[in-house]
Amino acid sequence: MKKLEKKGRTYRIGIIPGDGTGLEVVTEGLKVLQAVAKRFGITFRFRTFDIGGETYIRNGTLLPGDVLDQLREMDALFLGAIGHPDVQPGILEREILLRLRFELDLYINLRPITLLPGVLSPLKDKGPEDIDFVVIRENSEGMYAGGGGFFKKGTPDEVALQESVNTRKGVERCVRYAYEYCRRRNRKKQLTLCAKTNVLLYESNLWYRVFEELHPSYPDVEIDYQHVDALCMWMIKNPEKFDVIVTSNLFGDIITDIGAIIQGGMGIAAGGNINPEGNAMFEPIGGSAPKYTGLGKINPLAAIGAAQMMLEYLGEEKSAQAVMTAMKKVAKEDLESLDAGRMGHSTSEVGDLVADAVTA
Ligand code: IPM
Ligand code: MN
Repeated sequence: MKKLEKKGRTYRIGIIPGDGTGLEVVTEGLKVLQAVAKRFGITFRFRTFDIGGETYIRNGTLLPGDVLDQLREMDALFLGAIGHPDVQPGILEREILLRLRFELDLYINLRPITLLPGVLSPLKDKGPEDIDFVVIRENSEGMYAGGGGFFKKGTPDEVALQESVNTRKGVERCVRYAYEYCRRRNRKKQLTLCAKTNVLLYESNLWYRVFEELHPSYPDVEIDYQHVDALCMWMIKNPEKFDVIVTSNLFGDIITDIGAIIQGGMGIAAGGNINPEGNAMFEPIGGSAPKYTGLGKINPLAAIGAAQMMLEYLGEEKSAQAVMTAMKKVAKEDLESLDAGRMGHSTSEVGDLVADAVTA
């Protein structure tokens, strides 16, 4: 975050509302950021970027180079959702979302799994004190690097190869970030590596060696290892076991969907795509939810949570804390449910409630 330090408390934020309900939830996130600006004397300079399925259908562009250059100039990016029912699945995901992660080298995907007070988890007898951990997902290589190919495609002898790319540098920077994060988080100070060393003899072996090799630099952090399948079970049976989990790209993708549902669903799940030395992009991870578009029924708390993570990344600790406190209050006192259409309030009312709680 070096490049932020000099600039004082003015931040250039790039907004990508994207598709579907993206605009509605981003609007509420911005409402909360405006409330933060007012209370904490921060200046945000927002700039909106026209990227997504709608833009692609309208003029055939996905993520042009000049737009990418402009995005690089921002202190942080705030993304609503990318995904359109009229675009063949995979195009927007790969050419926009994944390309942003790769081109900006956002090698950390930070996904907190926190059950807010008053929110019902599908896990029986588990409350906010039990569900409070963070997944650090490697975000720039692994199965997502896209290596592989077909051989004899369409014949009975067809071969499909899908390669996982794990570089020493890529694994090490992710695991190091996880140790640092775990230390900074200062809870149980326990870092769990999630891999599959009994089967993935090369990939998981590299992760395991790096994990162990870095440990002496972090003697205050306790280490733990789980195979990914067992970890899925523990996340459901005893989520209180975990503090910080570090894992590869695809495993991280999968386990964070379990994480999202145990913290109350997609209405609340937020994530940050971060390069600690460069750019960062924050997003609600629930997708564009086309069937709810324009109805004012979708829960903006995930987007507000993404804005909250952005404040933390920008080093605005106090305001990040204030937004978290406001989110907890609203979840506990005002919302009937986190699910779309069942909140007891409209999307924009939920944004008002959180913004009011921030300034109160
Ligand atoms: C996520 C999403 C993406 C991923 C998809 C949309 C490509 O599921 O951010 O978790 O697989 O990373
Ligand atoms: Mn996912």
